[in-house]
Amino acid sequence: MDQDRGQFSSKLGFILAAAGSAVGLGNLVAFPVMASKNGGAAFLIIYLFFIAFICYPVMMAEIAMGRRTTRNPVGAFSALSGGHRGWRLAGMLAILTPFMIAVFYTVITVWLVVYIREIATGNLEYLSAETSFGEVVARPSLFAYLVGLMALIFFILLGGVKGGIERLARVLMPTLAVMLVLLTIFVLTLENASLGIRYYLVPDFSQMNLSVVNGALSQAFFSLSLGMGILITYGSYFSRNDNIAQSTRMVAVADTSIAFFAGLMILPAIFAFDPNTNTDDLSTSSVGLIFSFLPKIFLSMQAAVGYTGATIAALVFFTLVFFAALTSLVSIIEIPIACWIDELKLNRRKAVVLQAFLLMLFAVPATMSLGISDFFTNFTSYGGVSKSFFDLVSDVFYETILPFVGFTVCLFCAYRWKVSGLKSELVIGDPGYEGSRLEKYINFSLGTVIPVVLLVVFISTVNQIYLS
Ligand code: PFF
Repeated sequence: MDQDRGQFSSKLGFILAAAGSAVGLGNLVAFPVMASKNGGAAFLIIYLFFIAFICYPVMMAEIAMGRRTTRNPVGAFSALSGGHRGWRLAGMLAILTPFMIAVFYTVITVWLVVYIREIATGNLEYLSAETSFGEVVARPSLFAYLVGLMALIFFILLGGVKGGIERLARVLMPTLAVMLVLLTIFVLTLENASLGIRYYLVPDFSQMNLSVVNGALSQAFFSLSLGMGILITYGSYFSRNDNIAQSTRMVAVADTSIAFFAGLMILPAIFAFDPNTNTDDLSTSSVGLIFSFLPKIFLSMQAAVGYTGATIAALVFFTLVFFAALTSLVSIIEIPIACWIDELKLNRRKAVVLQAFLLMLFAVPATMSLGISDFFTNFTSYGGVSKSFFDLVSDVFYETILPFVGFTVCLFCAYRWKVSGLKSELVIGDPGYEGSRLEKYINFSLGTVIPVVLLVVFISTVNQIYLS
């Protein structure tokens, strides 16, 4: 079966693929807006603190679990615990979570494709109307796009780790970085852009409170693709000659840099649109911002660069977001596939076909959740609000569960595998790890501070979404 598992060709291959997973809607839209609403550089400082002291050790732990066992999350938890039932359950949660995230992320990516097509055919003005998003997401033609997108994704995944995932990231990640830089330069030339920069970068500590701190940690965790089983699985494709601590650091730096640069583009664009913008009024939902708000912003650029110029800028932006979403989506759909290969002993082709079928089974109702079907649109209600099937999946698996999965990883590594076991993996390819300050910090924090912090974030999110 090992020829079906595959391996990254080099450290760079791993870094690009992991960064491809990490860089997504979270970086390009959620981070910039969150930062500017919550004290600018003050938020950034807290965010960086969490990346370094909470997320980085969890990333290393996930990758080490995967590399030690060369297994998917279920196999990894199971192998390292000697087949313990409870820990196997934790592994299953780390499969179910990416499986369900893929469901609604697929739907969002389908909308992106529709938007790109509309913009390319001259309809930016249509998209910037108040009612357009609601119309687009209720179109039956979405199913045709869904089938096309699935065909593309599963074709890439058939190519395996090296020929599919890594190859895609090698092409798209540098392209994405260049597009982001070009778009940022363009936006900075617009009138009033500097107001946005000021808003983004001047620290304002008066905005700090517990919920902002909580939000910063959730965002950091989410942005690095933690708690989704992704890094466990990618760790299983990571060479034993390479250094986990160093590669992980590079992924974290790449992800954070892209988030930071996205702020240098989004905020000036918003302020160029309206110099009196009150960032408190901006929605924190990435979906709302991308699909309802940003088309208006791009359309407003026509005053400076004409309709064609505004259309080109919008096209570059939406293509950029699409590339980021595609590399994230491919990474997350690989997790259940790795599980089917390892646990059901299927070859890659059969595992890919099985996953395509299973994903379709859930993606269709999720697509029908925004107006096409009444049943899925008003699926349930909690926290005093009516929720669609799409909302339910997104609330449970995207907004809530990730810190909990991270919590189980920490407890597992600290108390079941033990920090000595973790260390024995982390020194492979990195002899300097033994006795380093990093080792001491991880040994101390992985069973104490980090899981406590993650549990607090989990509980407060549950409270906020379901009980308030
Ligand atoms: N790290 C991604 C982001 O910041 O958007 C999170 C992610 C979402 C990864 C969806 C993978 C995925 F399928």
